[in-house]
Amino acid sequence: MVAIAEAVVKASSVPVTAKTRLGWDANDMPIVSVAERLQDVGIQALTIHGRTRAQMYTGTADWTLIAEVKNNQRMKIPIIGNGDIDSPIKAKEAFDRYGVDAIMIGRASIGNPSIFKFVKHYLLHNELLPEMTLLEIVEDLKEFTHKSIEWKGLPGGVIHMRRQFAKSFKGLEHFRETRIKLLRLIELDQVLNSLDYIAAHWNDNGSEKI
Ligand SMILES: Cc1cc2nc3c(=O)[nH]c(=O)nc-3n(C[C@H](O)[C@H](O)[C@H](O)COP(=O)(O)O)c2cc1C
Repeated sequence: MVAIAEAVVKASSVPVTAKTRLGWDANDMPIVSVAERLQDVGIQALTIHGRTRAQMYTGTADWTLIAEVKNNQRMKIPIIGNGDIDSPIKAKEAFDRYGVDAIMIGRASIGNPSIFKFVKHYLLHNELLPEMTLLEIVEDLKEFTHKSIEWKGLPGGVIHMRRQFAKSFKGLEHFRETRIKLLRLIELDQVLNSLDYIAAHWNDNGSEKI
């Protein structure tokens, strides 16, 4: 890994960052020295997912080792903590308790792409935003769909959003048919109409209006 990082840094005219886990398994977690070595070959920031490779996604992320890297006097580059952050409270804890310079959020954003807004508000104002209404969820998803299309074009931008659509409407009663239809749509207009239909057809508590 260090050799690859060094070669990439040498070949690159832009800053190179890295992301890795703690190590291979519970008996082999060399992240503290690996972080030093990555910094030594010119890596400009390091993200650490607090699990080992053997863990895959089981167990919980070990943030104490992430903190150990951050507190290592030799480390100068920003350390970005990652693993299991799924709420504004946990995000704040990552900064306060483990001292990281930044955080990354992965799985919790799938089906809740507005989590970043909630986390940011809490970090800036120390106050939790109220839960989103169905209409707000729909409006955010529409905005993300437009951005996704700016990024990936058509139909890629719409298809990219399907993972979000699939998980964003948990708990709506009799939603199955609408969900299946939504996940098959390709045209932007159809998607926007379908999202509007959802906002109009269900209540915030998940019950059907008609
Ligand atoms: C569907 C999916 C795709 C991922 N793709 C990548 C990837 O391309 N590169 C990477 O470094 N990590 C990838 N990850 C790992 C995440 O970036 C992150 O390290 C991991 O999910 C732990 O963070 P979380 O608990 O916030 O999800 C992926 C995770 C998921 C669930």
